[in-house]
Amino acid sequence: MDAHQFLVNSSLQFIEKASFTWQTPSNIALVKYWGKSEPQIPKNASISFTLNNCHTITTIEFEKIEKSDSVQFDMYFEGKKNEDFKPKIAKFFQRIAEYCPYIFEYKMIIHSQNSFPHSSGIASSASGLSAIAMCLTSLEQQLIPALNSDFVTKKASFLARLGSGSASRSIEGPLVVWGNHPEIEGSSDLFAVPFPHTIHSIFENYQDVILLVDKGEKQVSSTVGHELMHNHPFAENRFQQANENLTKLSKILQNGDIKNFINLVESEALTLHAMMLTSNPYFILMKPNTLEIIQKIWKYRSENQSNICFTLDAGANVHVLFPENEKQNVLQFIENELASFCHKNEYICDSVGFGAKKLENIKVR
Ligand code: DP6
Repeated sequence: MDAHQFLVNSSLQFIEKASFTWQTPSNIALVKYWGKSEPQIPKNASISFTLNNCHTITTIEFEKIEKSDSVQFDMYFEGKKNEDFKPKIAKFFQRIAEYCPYIFEYKMIIHSQNSFPHSSGIASSASGLSAIAMCLTSLEQQLIPALNSDFVTKKASFLARLGSGSASRSIEGPLVVWGNHPEIEGSSDLFAVPFPHTIHSIFENYQDVILLVDKGEKQVSSTVGHELMHNHPFAENRFQQANENLTKLSKILQNGDIKNFINLVESEALTLHAMMLTSNPYFILMKPNTLEIIQKIWKYRSENQSNICFTLDAGANVHVLFPENEKQNVLQFIENELASFCHKNEYICDSVGFGAKKLENIKVR
């Protein structure tokens, strides 16, 4: 499947006005995407849990205009006109323009809000860009009524990927793979697909508590981090290791081997940060409290025969992962022993979710 299939070939049945609202989730990678080539092609396949509570809700109102040379849009975030996000979204529109020519024929008013606190260190690009992608594909479906829903879902992931790689994994759930992998049928570098096998019951409704260690702006963006994988001394080994880890994780998710799940997921998190430590320029995104929390998790696990583990994204926050049957005990442990390492004692309780939801009769203002 190549990118050409996402070009618009049919004639468009223009409508004067339309409005769509989508709620799309954040996700947390278990096997990490770190390293890419143009245009947003990952160097290795990745897999993530789709989250349930951390999401963006976006309404786009489309109004037909004379065809314009540039994309016409206004952006409102949490009720206020927002100029800060505009350049990123404008760049996104530029990248997807050849696949969505209709964006030059509408004025778009975008209203967006997140369920998680702004600047909590939780990346909003995955949920934010996937929500815009869903609104655009909803419009496309109205302009080309013959499109089938499977194609529309793939195209939404394809478009979201062009905005931010991890956003491609924020359309479906509960486990999503992005990147071509020989053992994941249907997988592609162009868009993400749901993990195609039945998941062992221990991984159903898996819990993720996000410990907000540092709410500040990251010193190094993911985009710069990805670039530093070019000419990185360990890059090729890392890409190979990630693909092998996905092979292993695919089996683990099916057979419920939770001890190996813990080992693989924690190793992936630490390897991601090891890539940052060993790039040039080198950088450290973990904070002292990140390490304190990791030590506490390891101690709790060994003293309580628990299956708790952690993962990290490109920042200082810690995602605490555990099976639903440990929820009561682990939440107590987090409140008693980990909350004090968080900024203002704040953490977010989340669990695995099922992907984008269209919200009928609701508009974000
Ligand atoms: C560490 O998707 O934010 O979270 O494609 O440049 O927008 P861009 O990068 P982004 O990178 C995410 C990196 C990660 C790992 C992951 O989610 O797989």
